[in-house]
Amino acid sequence: MRVVRSIRTMQRLVSQAKRSGKRVGFVPTMGALHDGHRSLLRRCRRENDLAVLSIFVNPKQFGLREDFAKYPRREHDDKKLAKKEKVDIMFVPSVKEMYPEGYLTYIEVEKMTQFLCGRSRPGHFKGVTTVVGKLLNIVTPDVLYLGQKDAQQAAVLKRMARDLNFPVAVRVCPTVREADGLAMSSRNQYLPAGQRREAAVLYRALREARQGVAAGNRSSAGIAGGIRSRIGRESSGRIDYIECVDADTILPLKRIQGKTIIALAVWFGKTRLIDNIIVRT
Ligand code: PAF
Repeated sequence: MRVVRSIRTMQRLVSQAKRSGKRVGFVPTMGALHDGHRSLLRRCRRENDLAVLSIFVNPKQFGLREDFAKYPRREHDDKKLAKKEKVDIMFVPSVKEMYPEGYLTYIEVEKMTQFLCGRSRPGHFKGVTTVVGKLLNIVTPDVLYLGQKDAQQAAVLKRMARDLNFPVAVRVCPTVREADGLAMSSRNQYLPAGQRREAAVLYRALREARQGVAAGNRSSAGIAGGIRSRIGRESSGRIDYIECVDADTILPLKRIQGKTIIALAVWFGKTRLIDNIIVRT
């Protein structure tokens, strides 16, 4: 596996691979890799000739009071995991390499970024689309792999790729969960033991919501209310949002219909966790 830090080298290696007819798969991450990332890397490895992983903690997607400084950075461990998963290239640019002095250009997807995490984290998705747009231009993959855990991010990036004609197929892979159902996230490690135990309520509440929909409950307010009261009964979590949104447009739905994402963000102490499930009616 090659560790590449410069954009020019990354571009040169991919264009060589493409000239010899190789199909390129790409998994963008911010590192602190866990089994969720591992499942993306495995699929990327299986489906492509060249598997590229990027690790870049992107300052432009963190708000001023968010956890950019304390976000876990584990390049050594990440490298071991990437090698084990047979990644060909691990791209680890510096902030200066990605955003040199005088950087001025941004990508913004409208409307779909106004709800859920977009409402609670103003500017977050502008940072995500900008960095992923840049990474797509640098890596020029045939296939981009994203996780369903970040459902809004996946929908926004799909839309960006479509609207801006990036020649890439986007694959959204299922959320990987801990044994008690908690969605894997690099932020789980912030949780002290008590909050970590409590956080398993999120998936229990989402599963109960899915049963409610299966039993015929179509009211978004009713479904959100059920989730809210279960979280309140079984944990000290503080709810940021619980919403039912259309899976493609990410616009809130009054009544659940078609492919719907039931999504939530909940604070446990200073850690904000997100999770979601998809239901179809
Ligand atoms: O999901 C993430 O880890 C990040 O938002 C991403 C897609 C790598 C962009 O920085």
